[in-house]
Amino acid sequence: MTYEGMWSTLAPIGRHDRTGGYRRYTWSEPHRECQLWFQEEAAKRGLTLESDGNGNVVAWWRPDPDRTEGGVVTGSHLDSVPDGGAFDGPLGVVSALAALDLLRDNGVQPARPLGIAVFAEEEGARFGVACLGSRLLTGALPAEQARELRDADGLSLPDAMERAGASPALGPSLGLLHAPSAFVELHIEQGRGLVDLEAPVGVADSIWAHGRWRFEFTGEANHAGTTRMADRHDPMLTYAMTALAANKRARLTRTRATFGHVEVEPNATNAVPSTVRAWLDGRAHDQESLRALVEEVRRLAGDRAHRDGTGLEVEAESLTPGVDFDADLRRLLVTRLGGAPVLPTQAGHDAGILAAAGVPAAMLFVRNPTGVSHSPAEHAEAADCVAGVRALADVLTELLAP
Ligand code: GLV
Ligand code: MN
Ligand code: MN
Repeated sequence: MTYEGMWSTLAPIGRHDRTGGYRRYTWSEPHRECQLWFQEEAAKRGLTLESDGNGNVVAWWRPDPDRTEGGVVTGSHLDSVPDGGAFDGPLGVVSALAALDLLRDNGVQPARPLGIAVFAEEEGARFGVACLGSRLLTGALPAEQARELRDADGLSLPDAMERAGASPALGPSLGLLHAPSAFVELHIEQGRGLVDLEAPVGVADSIWAHGRWRFEFTGEANHAGTTRMADRHDPMLTYAMTALAANKRARLTRTRATFGHVEVEPNATNAVPSTVRAWLDGRAHDQESLRALVEEVRRLAGDRAHRDGTGLEVEAESLTPGVDFDADLRRLLVTRLGGAPVLPTQAGHDAGILAAAGVPAAMLFVRNPTGVSHSPAEHAEAADCVAGVRALADVLTELLAP
């Protein structure tokens, strides 16, 4: 199967007719189709599939079947955010398969196994915790906590897995990776760093600290016409002011703050709302700046709630410390790629979760001409994608050498 062939079979899966974006939520029908697609690609190449009870899958090329430990793992994820782009995740999986093909075409004889991983629920779009599969695998998220996660319909993670025909066995499963000597994730760049540097491929040096906080603003539902403006306890106003304050605070402190998901009750045009639930995505270069950002947003929201006569509760849903990728591995990638540029990222990735768990991990980024991501407008030029496959194959050749 050619590189273009892989893209064309994957392209229609989970694409929404109206928006053109992808809705590949974990354990949904499109997710099952993506899994089948991966299984077929692995079977065509004679790879051995292994999976864990968290929904993570690895396809192994083991030239020496007796040697299973200490291999090199690459790969990414196939799930998407609501109306996501085609490349965030799939570029790393398709490129991994294409790089493996290139290694074989080049007659490379790996001295150790090569695994291509697909991690489950990287985006956290269904159960609210980003990198859910890799967090469970490393033990960063306890199974008891994951068992309590629910989707928007109130279905628990184990129930959703069972409905999709999987057998949940949530919990640590680092053994799936067989003590890897290196993990390298290729990913579309989600900003304009490589555009500015005029480079098709770059190497990541670090991931910012980031997390999600649920803000629940409560007020008093009432009639939109008959309730005098002065008599209202409108949580929408408290929320709106909080969103503006978060934006201003992030600009002032060179951090990032986004409210991108809101639930309103009763959600009627002619009623003052009773509740607004809004999720803050916060990111900062270091954990102290992130803590300060969220504390300040919480304080400003509380002050405004006091003035509006509304209630406020804030709960942290996930927190991921910043991570520096393995310095030796990063140097190896840069040298092998003839001095490729090195850049940080504000996006979360499974590679970051593995790095935090002590796996030597690194990332390659492929240029994104507009820098847009988590949107159907996300894009990478074909020539840059090919450059990414070549770069990955080059790096893997060195990492798989005796
Ligand atoms: C994942 O893409 C994230 O950074 O939210
Ligand atoms: Mn993403
Ligand atoms: Mn991603």
